[in-house]
Amino acid sequence: MSRIVHDGPLIIGGGLAGLSAALSAAPRPVLVVSPAPLLEAASSAWAQGGVAAALSADDAPALHLKDTEAAGAGLVDHAAAQALTADGRSTVEWLASLGAPFDRDAAGDFAVSLEAAHSRARVARVGGDGAGRAILSALVDAARVADHVTVWEGARLRTLIQDATGRVRGAVIEKDGDLIEVLASAVVLATGGAGGLFGRTTTPMALKGEGLALAWAAGAEILDPEFVQFHPTAIDVGLDPMPLATEALRGDGARLIDAEGRYLLGPEPDADLKARDIVARAVHAGVAEGRGVFLDCRAAIGDHFPQAFPAVFAACMAAGLDPRLSPIPVAPAAHYHMGGIVADPDGRTSLPGLFAVGECAATGVHGANRLASNSLLEAAAFGRRTGRAAAEQAAIGVGALRIGPIVEDLPDAALAELRAAMSADCGVVRDAVGLTRLVQLIDRLEAAHGAPPALVAARLIADAALARRESRGGHYRSDFPQTAPVPTHTRLRRAATSLKA
Ligand code: SIN
Repeated sequence: MSRIVHDGPLIIGGGLAGLSAALSAAPRPVLVVSPAPLLEAASSAWAQGGVAAALSADDAPALHLKDTEAAGAGLVDHAAAQALTADGRSTVEWLASLGAPFDRDAAGDFAVSLEAAHSRARVARVGGDGAGRAILSALVDAARVADHVTVWEGARLRTLIQDATGRVRGAVIEKDGDLIEVLASAVVLATGGAGGLFGRTTTPMALKGEGLALAWAAGAEILDPEFVQFHPTAIDVGLDPMPLATEALRGDGARLIDAEGRYLLGPEPDADLKARDIVARAVHAGVAEGRGVFLDCRAAIGDHFPQAFPAVFAACMAAGLDPRLSPIPVAPAAHYHMGGIVADPDGRTSLPGLFAVGECAATGVHGANRLASNSLLEAAAFGRRTGRAAAEQAAIGVGALRIGPIVEDLPDAALAELRAAMSADCGVVRDAVGLTRLVQLIDRLEAAHGAPPALVAARLIADAALARRESRGGHYRSDFPQTAPVPTHTRLRRAATSLKA
């Protein structure tokens, strides 16, 4: 194995969080490692809604904070959410200054839309439903011309390197078939979520909780891994992953109906704009009962569809469905991981030298249920903070370096079995019988294949879901439907590592 010493942060992941950190670490040199060409690997590029921020005259960060805390079902960290919502406008302005072409109103200010559980219209969009790709494109362009940023595309994290005290000193990266020890002043995990562990997902399938699993193996503290958010309206036309039908469609008046044309959640105009977990459960029940669930956009959006929501329109038309004429078949799908690696708003984890930001991190801003479009805000706002904090980190090491086991992928057949079981037994509605069956499957797969990151991440999620004997936010137990009076976190830390010197 060759070794390089990089005098600055090593950032794993080239999505919105990773690139925001990279750009903000200037003038410190950063090395960004992305498993695929930038723009192709990250779920940020798939985000349709936009960036939530208090931007309009009738809004304020305090109102955004209140909505964020209400959605999070008792588990939002007040200080972290306050820091996030206070940074809303400055973050959107920063992204715009890099070239993100946000939709504007007649006065030239940011145009904002309404999404579920927001008390104000506050989602800054791009081209209707193209926010993620357009924003990430602007950051990719900026990173490509930034003198302090080097990007390795097609390179993968294989394990972390620690010193004798446990401080993270670098990572082993696989690049062009070679394993390279990269020693760095800090390692920033911006590896995204774990939607690829689920058979029904709206996220890139490559995202299987790799950062979560490796941080856990290195001894970092993990928070609330059981909290997975299921998006209620993934387009159900037999594709894997499932294309998203953005919540903004419902914000603009599209309605959820069953095959008979009956309103799924009731006739009130705002019935379909309840918190995402509530709507996801209603859609799940409609599908499970065989009623069929559809998003009817004909009256509310109709002929404006191609201009107003070009990405959803293209996905529907590619599946042979014209949403101007027919309701869109939908089902819930895994969409976002609220749980993750414990990190503060500056990305600091419980392990010195290790930072985490974006979906792989659990900063406490989402609690048990993320408010729509807070994810892009968190990725960019905390990405910037993390980049600055990681840049200040000096390279320190004590004693011999310890390299964790080089991780392998779970074979395809085993992954397919795991994904089906995760959606069936750890999906929108969970119970002890299904979760126990899932844990037994993970035991069996581990006996056959060891501990690839996908299995480690799945075990963290499944074990915590089995242990949480209540329903809260994105975690719903049909055998424990009540919410416990006192909200508690799941905090996990591996007792001892088995790293070899
Ligand atoms: C959506 O556009 O419905 C998704 C936005 C989000 O997940 O925040």
